[in-house]
Amino acid sequence: MGLPAQTISDLKQRAKRRVPRMFFDYADSGSWTEGTYHANETDFSKVKFRQRVAVDMTNRSLAATMVGQDVAMPVAIAPTGLSGMQHPDGEMLGAKAARDFGIPFTLSTMSICSIEDVSEATGGAPFWFQLYVMRDRKFMHNLIDRAKAANCSALVLTLDLQILGQRHKDARNGLSAPPRINLNTIGQLASRPQWCLSMLKTRRHTFRNIVGHAENVADISSLSAWTAEQFDPQLNWSDIEWIKERWGGKLILKGIMDTEDAHMATASGADAIIVSNHGGRQLDGAPSSIETLPAIVDAVGDKIEVHMDGGIRSGQDVMRAIALGAKGVYIGRPWLYGLGSGGEAGVRQALQIIHKELDITMAFCGERDISNVGRHNLVNPDVFSS
Ligand code: FNR
Repeated sequence: MGLPAQTISDLKQRAKRRVPRMFFDYADSGSWTEGTYHANETDFSKVKFRQRVAVDMTNRSLAATMVGQDVAMPVAIAPTGLSGMQHPDGEMLGAKAARDFGIPFTLSTMSICSIEDVSEATGGAPFWFQLYVMRDRKFMHNLIDRAKAANCSALVLTLDLQILGQRHKDARNGLSAPPRINLNTIGQLASRPQWCLSMLKTRRHTFRNIVGHAENVADISSLSAWTAEQFDPQLNWSDIEWIKERWGGKLILKGIMDTEDAHMATASGADAIIVSNHGGRQLDGAPSSIETLPAIVDAVGDKIEVHMDGGIRSGQDVMRAIALGAKGVYIGRPWLYGLGSGGEAGVRQALQIIHKELDITMAFCGERDISNVGRHNLVNPDVFSS
């Protein structure tokens, strides 16, 4: 495997060499012009730290809580679909790495490994489950009940994908799970023989939360067709009520990018919101998440926990988001690059890289405890106020 990766970017390069193009591109892409996808990353560099010196830096702590749960650092693994295509049994490996590190793993509805697979892999340790609102309410009830039975300790309800953003790379690459063999895909697969061989060793090749559980579902290998058919475009705030009641545990609403929606989410009685544009995969042309964060924190941060995701590629970015008021953040691509580059060990590396960078950055800013980090650690805390 060579030298250990130093950065998330190293892991990305390694994943690119190992994972077939349709799945690597599925992770490394945004919708339409990918403007929002790229802004999510680049806007972080506008946030400048205040360096402090001659401050005692011993005994630093990154320990925090997210929705009342202890976390080793305020970072969770974001729900990402098809992760078991970056690496065989990907979600099971990611959940184990997160459990061992002491941070939450969020399993996507559109995962390859099922809720039950992950629960078995983690020995029943709690993880988080992400839900979409689908037309088939019976199936949603069933998913919520399965998540409860698996000891999931928070439900992340995603609100920004009732229709699918236009993702041109996926269409061009012929993305499906399992991959279909045709003239477009054969070269993509043949050039990654190690990946193909490793996939033969697992029986988990399609959406195991869904196939065999939802009625009349035989083939959902085409993600875009399944979404168009099944996701409910009539989703509204009253749906949150019945979902909250049926779930009965910690509820996190994902995909909030507007202060009015943040007020509605707060009124719904949820425990936290995630400022998120789905990693730039849905509404292209929306602002970056980090640009949106401070206004939402100012609007509702004293009433509800505000989390964020989108564009975090280092522990420095985590520090920037926490300084601007996030109580916790999620990483999507960084964990997928770790997974694609080296399975469970790769995910562990991604978490170690982010932890180390966050710890060092916090020390340079003269802080010893992450709970004390705030806007005072920035030279330009108003960088995004207009
Ligand atoms: C996602 N995301 C996502 N979100 C969700 O609620 N359910 C899902 O199934 C998925 N699937 C998914 C697949 C892939 C490949 C990616 C990259 C992302 C969005 C994800 O949870 C998160 O919002 C973003 O990934 C955060 O941005 P970064 O960290 O990837 O820049």
